[in-house]
Amino acid sequence: MAPEPAADGATGMSAAPKLLQVVKATSLSLVRFHRDMFGGMTALPSSPAALRNRGPILDVLAGVLPPRGLVLEIASGTGEHAEHFAAAFPGLEWQPTDRDAGSLETIAARLGSAGLSNVRPPMCLDVTATPWPVARADAIVCINMIHISPWAACEALMVGAAAALPAGAPLYLYGPMMRDGRHTAPSNAAFDADLRARDPAWGVRDVADVAAVAGRVGLDLAAVVPMPSNNFSLVLRRRG
Ligand SMILES: C[S@@+](CC[C@H](N)C(=O)[O-])C[C@H]1O[C@@H](n2cnc3c(N)ncnc32)[C@H](O)[C@@H]1O
Repeated sequence: MAPEPAADGATGMSAAPKLLQVVKATSLSLVRFHRDMFGGMTALPSSPAALRNRGPILDVLAGVLPPRGLVLEIASGTGEHAEHFAAAFPGLEWQPTDRDAGSLETIAARLGSAGLSNVRPPMCLDVTATPWPVARADAIVCINMIHISPWAACEALMVGAAAALPAGAPLYLYGPMMRDGRHTAPSNAAFDADLRARDPAWGVRDVADVAAVAGRVGLDLAAVVPMPSNNFSLVLRRRG
């Protein structure tokens, strides 16, 4: 099999200098600055992966999200997905969250200057800490988290989503996944090994395992959509 591009979950947030390198190679319009605590202008952290995958993810979300209601985003990271999707779906209210304090600061800075009226201030939400601070949502979106966290985080995500969603409502997941115990590309196998070397509790998950843990708490796998760079979209729906 020919080498394929690595799953885009490989990168988290880039530091500002790296962002500037990426921007140099692409477009200056991507650089976003905010005023830091010393009054200086600082480039906001950015995720090159999020900038690459937000278009393809948006195309899938357009057929998955309800026309109105509250979308709870888990693990919002840099807030770039929240900004992009809230702008694209003005009928929806977007609630970004993350468990990481630095990410919450970045999200607040990014969205504070975005001029969007349908994005709520970011909230601290660790999927493993119950109860979640958002009790109800009409849809839940979680991008590139379950492989960069212990399996317990995936289990907790399912329990929390099942509790928060009404019957029929979607939980959208995105990231690299295995199918039937096998990696879908050599680059994903290498990425998996790298993740496990960084933390033995991390790793690329198998769609069947994700569907099984979801099914046990009342979320049924409704769709598996192959995505660019060897990723998948999974759509799960709350059983009625
Ligand atoms: C690879 S980043 C993805 C960020 C963003 N969704 C994106 O695709 O650019 C993984 C994110 O998961 C978050 N995360 C990890 N464990 C978590 C947990 N237990 N609860 C909530 N968020 C978590 C991290 O703080 C980080 O922002």
